[in-house]
Amino acid sequence: MSRKFAKSSSILLDDNPLWYRDAVIYEVHVRAFHDGNGDGIGDFQGLSEKLDYLQDLGVTALWLLPFYVSPLKDDGYDIADYTQIHPDYGTLHDFRLFLRAAHERGIRVITELVINHTSDQHPWFLRARDAKPGTSARNFYVWSDTQERYPEARIIFKDFEPSNWSWDPMAKAYYWHRFYSHQPDLNFDNPEVHKAIFDALDFWLDMGVDGLRLDAVPYLYEREGTNCENLAETHAFLKKLRQHVDSKYKNRMLLAEANQWPEDAVAYFGDGDECHMAFHFPVMPRLFMSLYMEDRFPIIDILDQTPAIPESSQWALFLRNHDELTLEMVTDEDRDYMYKVYASDPRARINLGIRRRLAPLLATNRRRVELLNSLLFSLPGTPVIYYGDEIGMGDNIYLGDRNGVRTPMQWSADRNAGFSRTNPQRLYLPVIIDPEHHYETVNVDAQQQNPASLLWWMKRLVLLRKNYQAFGRGTIEFLLPDNRKVLVFVRRLSDEIILVVANLSRFVNYVELDLSAYKGMVPVELFGHTRFPSMS
Ligand code: GLC
Ligand code: CA
Repeated sequence: MSRKFAKSSSILLDDNPLWYRDAVIYEVHVRAFHDGNGDGIGDFQGLSEKLDYLQDLGVTALWLLPFYVSPLKDDGYDIADYTQIHPDYGTLHDFRLFLRAAHERGIRVITELVINHTSDQHPWFLRARDAKPGTSARNFYVWSDTQERYPEARIIFKDFEPSNWSWDPMAKAYYWHRFYSHQPDLNFDNPEVHKAIFDALDFWLDMGVDGLRLDAVPYLYEREGTNCENLAETHAFLKKLRQHVDSKYKNRMLLAEANQWPEDAVAYFGDGDECHMAFHFPVMPRLFMSLYMEDRFPIIDILDQTPAIPESSQWALFLRNHDELTLEMVTDEDRDYMYKVYASDPRARINLGIRRRLAPLLATNRRRVELLNSLLFSLPGTPVIYYGDEIGMGDNIYLGDRNGVRTPMQWSADRNAGFSRTNPQRLYLPVIIDPEHHYETVNVDAQQQNPASLLWWMKRLVLLRKNYQAFGRGTIEFLLPDNRKVLVFVRRLSDEIILVVANLSRFVNYVELDLSAYKGMVPVELFGHTRFPSMS
């Protein structure tokens, strides 16, 4: 073992290179979780204080949204310094303490590597706009004299940006940006950019971070005559990144954020030599569609279209996250349907999606929430829980951008939902006081005291998942009984055979299954360990 491994607190973790296949990931923004110093903004001190809660919930990895120095015009996805912590959240020392405390509890930590773009306040951009055209400093970003280049690239933040080019009066040129105009895209044709990115990556991996989410990764390169997504050059760079990680570090994980159709998303696994994980974006809206339509077709259809993935690879599955419920990877018809049934209020819509949390999307119906979480935890992949959804937190569609799903975690019925001691007017965002999801009723304290609460149900679900590796690693086979309202599949890993039967209807349903392949076996219901009659 090299000195580096010995020094880092990751030696407190089990030595398992495939840990991400059995993981349960919890997504959280440090700003939103708990305020340790009483200034109205969550911080690393506060997050560390709540690690016992996360351990009790049973999650095995935390994915932290960007906490670096930033003007915070896109919640930190606009980075101005890759290796410093935003002072609102604490210091590097606080981060180290947090990382060690997480590792001591067997919890791994995944952070963000936002490499497609930086903030326009990043020193690299300030230097680039001053530098002479043609120099490496200038070419850290993508410049043009006209707005005519790369016309086939779509605009992602279509409610906010009219073009992927913006004029810089200092440089007297246009610069390229796939997101907000204050987020200029880095130029991956410049080898110096690769070097700078590798330095940032080494900084966090040396410290002992276990995984990196690669934000907005399909857009690294631009080429004329293409839509500038998923280009061969982008994949070549990611392979180089992976090689770098493998040559220097043990048991680390790269997670691709590629909001793409299945056949394009699988490319991010390469031959097992690119990213270890990738989000499965298209399956997410189809879970919601199947539920509303009371029909298993959308789920089975998208999984049928999903190619097999290399042995060491894993999908990351989610129901909700910090962004809008994206409807980019559905047909126009399906998008209309989703808007109609899940976002009849136009305020709930943003860009090509819906800015709501899980509970309000499901009409705060406990059975629907349990059903979708059960599918999240049993379909092939690793589940990602969005903070607050384990207690059924509400949202606030009257806040701007995607802030309505980023409000403070609700710990108790105390002032500011127990999130902060500060003057309520000083909170980074107001707490939820909508009557149905008011923090006085929807909070961790209240639910901890009620073993029949959603929180306790989620804890049992997490535990159940961790008892059977078939969920994270097994094969899937769909059974197709006549009744399409019932989704049935078998997950299997050697002698672990798990039958999942999900009734998508609001009403009780009847289904007849052909289980002759399992003749003579005694089914055991997994939640209650009840033995059923043996199969004949
Ligand atoms: C990713 C993030 C999103 C951010 C965007 C631009 O899609 O999830 O929150 O706004 O990248 O960085
Ligand atoms: Ca604080």
